[in-house]
Amino acid sequence: MHIISFANQKGGVGKTTTAVTLSHGLARLGKKVLLVDLDPQGHVAFSLGFDKQPGLYRLICENAKIKDVILNARENFDILPSDKFTEKVKRHITLSDFRESILLDLFEKTKYDFILLDLAPSLDVLHLNGLVASDWVMIPTRLDALAVDGVNEILSTMGEIRKQGYPFLGYSILPTFFDRTTRETLVQLKELVQHFGPKVMPPIPQDTRVRESVAYGKTLWEYSPNSTAIQGYNDGNKSTGGYDQVLHRLLEIFHG
Ligand SMILES: Nc1ncnc2c1ncn2[C@@H]1O[C@H](COP(=O)(O)OP(=O)(O)O)[C@@H](O)[C@H]1O
Ligand SMILES: [Mg+2]
Repeated sequence: MHIISFANQKGGVGKTTTAVTLSHGLARLGKKVLLVDLDPQGHVAFSLGFDKQPGLYRLICENAKIKDVILNARENFDILPSDKFTEKVKRHITLSDFRESILLDLFEKTKYDFILLDLAPSLDVLHLNGLVASDWVMIPTRLDALAVDGVNEILSTMGEIRKQGYPFLGYSILPTFFDRTTRETLVQLKELVQHFGPKVMPPIPQDTRVRESVAYGKTLWEYSPNSTAIQGYNDGNKSTGGYDQVLHRLLEIFHG
């Protein structure tokens, strides 16, 4: 089992979009996937056409069984949904023993090939639990002047956790809202690559289809599989970026 979290202490950088899109991408390739929403905004359920609900709250605060709180979103693809009650989960965890590894302990008992964690931007005990449980961290970032700074913030949080004895296998950085017609984004992409080299994934183009797909409760693979966000920018026989390339890079990382 591989546990991958999507983290950035900034909001609106594409964490949820990326977590939902890659989860369904893996599921469509036959992997058994669980996507866990750790953000009280509950956008994971919403993006997939469900109502927000207190799945995480019932699991952790009411000792519900995991099978009773997950939703089967698509073939091979379950979600553990959140809503505003997730705020109470934080308080509950803070008062518990072994509080950094509560999620990890729960996940270890399940039988998924991949568990993806959509983290909230806030730096709290739930965020910490998500990072502790992960063996890979994907850091989506917009290509603005604060991109490198935002990535460094989350890397330093990961460094703190490592000091406490929890190892990570690694991380990657995912440039989002890529617009190749804007000089600023090209400059920032170059800057990211200079700083982080091969850790930087192919960028995800900015694409209005992304917002539309959320409004319809569909994933991008369902709503618009030929969109720029999925297929990248196309120049004749070569394409640049897009979720399909990123999905395959992820599979290479995990050999399969
Ligand atoms: N590549 C993209 N192109 C255009 N809009 C996007 C793209 N990725 C995400 N969005 C939109 O931007 C908003 C923020 O994205 P989201 O994934 O919710 O970010 P986060 O989870 O980091 O807060 C959402 O409305 C989403 O639909
Ligand atoms: Mg989000």
